[in-house]
Amino acid sequence: MTQLQNEALWTSKWRCPSNIALVKYWGKRDFQKPMNQSLSFVLQNSFTEMSVELFKEGDQKVEFYFEGLSHPFGERIESYLAQLSVRIQWIEDYNFRIHSRNSFPHSAGIASSASSFGALALCLAELHFAISGKEPDTPDLWRKASELARLGSGSACRSIYPGFSIWGKAQLFEVCSDEYATPLYEGINPVFYTLRDAILIVDSGVKAVSSTIGHMLMNEHVYQPSRIAQAHQNLNELYLSLLTGNKESFVEVVESEALSLHALMMTSRPSYMLLKPNTLELISRIRAYREKTKIPVCFTLDAGPNIHLLYFKKNELEVRAFIEEELLDFCENRQWIDDRIGKGPERIIT
Ligand code: PMV
Repeated sequence: MTQLQNEALWTSKWRCPSNIALVKYWGKRDFQKPMNQSLSFVLQNSFTEMSVELFKEGDQKVEFYFEGLSHPFGERIESYLAQLSVRIQWIEDYNFRIHSRNSFPHSAGIASSASSFGALALCLAELHFAISGKEPDTPDLWRKASELARLGSGSACRSIYPGFSIWGKAQLFEVCSDEYATPLYEGINPVFYTLRDAILIVDSGVKAVSSTIGHMLMNEHVYQPSRIAQAHQNLNELYLSLLTGNKESFVEVVESEALSLHALMMTSRPSYMLLKPNTLELISRIRAYREKTKIPVCFTLDAGPNIHLLYFKKNELEVRAFIEEELLDFCENRQWIDDRIGKGPERIIT
């Protein structure tokens, strides 16, 4: 292996957050397009920082380092770049050196593909405009980055914007697209910008069934038509809650979406289950706490056993005490990540 020695011809560095879906994308159409629309918000403290340097010399297409060490994820990036080079000519002309690090421990069972592909896509989009000699408007840069991120990992396209965004053609939103995510900048009730997300780590192990397989199983799923209809209805209802500041309906839709995602896994053929006994214990404790205190807390889930406990800044003190006293005993090594709704990606000046 020849290490790339000289100064890079072009460099770009970005920090990109992870995101958590409230209305879940589950199932694909065509190439990396969603079977249904989804809505998410970006996190603040869970992010990837990535630098991309371009060289003309060297005999290796991609050198990829994760936290300073050469890493096999480079192979996935190499095939992603090969696929992109059909659309973006200059990719063929350069070799890439990429350094990446995550803010969250990789043993936390947190999927890092959204923040990683988000960061990579932001670097590529910035380089694209620079190499083509075009001065991008900021919305052009975001849109390009969101589209490139989607081609790496669907949900990554929603990591590009601050706050909330929607991906997928939606009945309510004519501007939304299957190709890239669209930010929801206007009209959101300010209380939703005070959202907190406590990520409770139930199990940090590798999932038994990957999301790629899960998406594929939706192709023949007996509930496919009703799931698509449900996602549309839930998105409309959730959007209305975000506009009006209705926390009760927010809680209802968010939990229904989380459990629907896992119900789809359990009713796939073949069927599988990613929830663990402690996930169910945490869910019942969160519901009992809400019932008893009337504090608007709720949970959501990714395609895995870990719980995202959502609550509002106003209730921070009580909910943190609840987490410490009642929930951490059900987490692996009492691990959790203290996160919140975020301000979106940041370009890092080197
Ligand atoms: O982007 P992917 O292919 O890793 O799929 C992720 C799907 C969920 O995280 C389960 C839901 C979502 O909308 O993020």
